[in-house]
Amino acid sequence: MNNFNYYNPCKIVFGDDVEKEIGQNCLDLNVKKVLLHYGGGSIKKNGLYEKVIASLKASNIQYVELAGVKPNPRLELVREGIAICKKENVDLVLAVGGGSVIDSAKAIACGFYVEDIWEYYLDSSKVLEKALPLGVVLTIPAAGSETSSSSVITEEATNLKRSAGTKHMIAKFAIMNPKNTYSLPDNQIAYGVSDMFAHIMERYFSQTTGVDLGDRLLEANMKNILRIAPLVFNDKENYTLRAEIMWAGTLAHNGILGMGRDEDWASHLIEHELSGEYDIPHGLGLAIVFPAWMKYVCKDNMPRFTQFASRVFGIEYAHDNGEYAVSEAIKAMENFYKSIGLHTRLSDISINADKFDVMAERLFFKRGTTVGQFKKLNKADAVNIFNLAK
Ligand code: NZQ
Ligand code: ZN
Repeated sequence: MNNFNYYNPCKIVFGDDVEKEIGQNCLDLNVKKVLLHYGGGSIKKNGLYEKVIASLKASNIQYVELAGVKPNPRLELVREGIAICKKENVDLVLAVGGGSVIDSAKAIACGFYVEDIWEYYLDSSKVLEKALPLGVVLTIPAAGSETSSSSVITEEATNLKRSAGTKHMIAKFAIMNPKNTYSLPDNQIAYGVSDMFAHIMERYFSQTTGVDLGDRLLEANMKNILRIAPLVFNDKENYTLRAEIMWAGTLAHNGILGMGRDEDWASHLIEHELSGEYDIPHGLGLAIVFPAWMKYVCKDNMPRFTQFASRVFGIEYAHDNGEYAVSEAIKAMENFYKSIGLHTRLSDISINADKFDVMAERLFFKRGTTVGQFKKLNKADAVNIFNLAK
């Protein structure tokens, strides 16, 4: 096990009706005025918007609004948000939505204190030292941004989708009511499940040894998601199922499950090139990239992959048929994605090989020569993975 630091001070307020506590959580931070940041309107349709406003008003918290965050959030709106916060003397950014809204809010909160926030997304060696406090009201279990320390933003003109991270991006509080996810359409449920599952696998597929407790925790989360996720689609207002999925998504990405081990993240970075170029949902891209990545790298640590096959999918194997077990596990993974309505090949979503080289080139823009830890991948490897995902 590697040495590690664990720091995640986000206060999680989880359960039915917890939106009522938004105002009090702002008061606890001495906040007087918030930027209420949200997306394309789902919170107005499902009634959450009124509840947020009611809680702010009950605590005499003033607010200004900035709506319109798109999935794969854009830099332009971030810049608009920063300008509003400065003009209006905002002292907390309140994100009401999913990963895209939260990531946009994080960029605004940090951008408040620097000259050009985009520089920090382009250059991971630049350190963000300060941010406005951030509060989150989560509406979709998926990206885990509600407690993570990072944000992913796209610059539309260049299709560059890049992340930045700092402890200052960790929300001060996250309000999580599973009922606020009842209104999710099926495709968004599936994208979210794929993303949280990927966050677990990015940590699970590690070359670090002596991390069996971490392995077992990661396996428990994967097995529970495999069990619960298919049930949600036919039982939309089942509170227990929604609560399990919501909590799974947070635990997948709040950092605790990766402690003491090298994490991989190559599949995520490769996927970000796909969603940067084609504006596809991140969770869909991951369902396509991850199986291809698995096929490409499994030989670099077969015991870890056979452990995944047997412990997560219950695939039996003998000492001399590990490869068979691993290929069955990858098939099982693909079947799971399909069972929840996701595609697992680029051709299924009409993406051909035209841009493989462009995306592989851009993957390394200002980023060194390899990505990933399980197997360090270069540009040619990235193209090979795109080809395996065709
Ligand atoms: O915009 P609205 O109208 O709210 O609709 C959203 C959006 O269209 C809709 N939605 C959300 N909650 C809903 C709902 N519709 C009905 N009822 C609800 N309760 O869902 C759509 C997708 O929302 P989005 O926020 O884009 O989803 P998600 O949470 O999957 O976020 C994806 C983004 O997060 C980034 C991804 O790259 C992507 O840009 N990630 C952020 C991470 C982080 N900061 O730690 C880590 C992840 O790996 C990921 O990269
Ligand atoms: Zn992700």
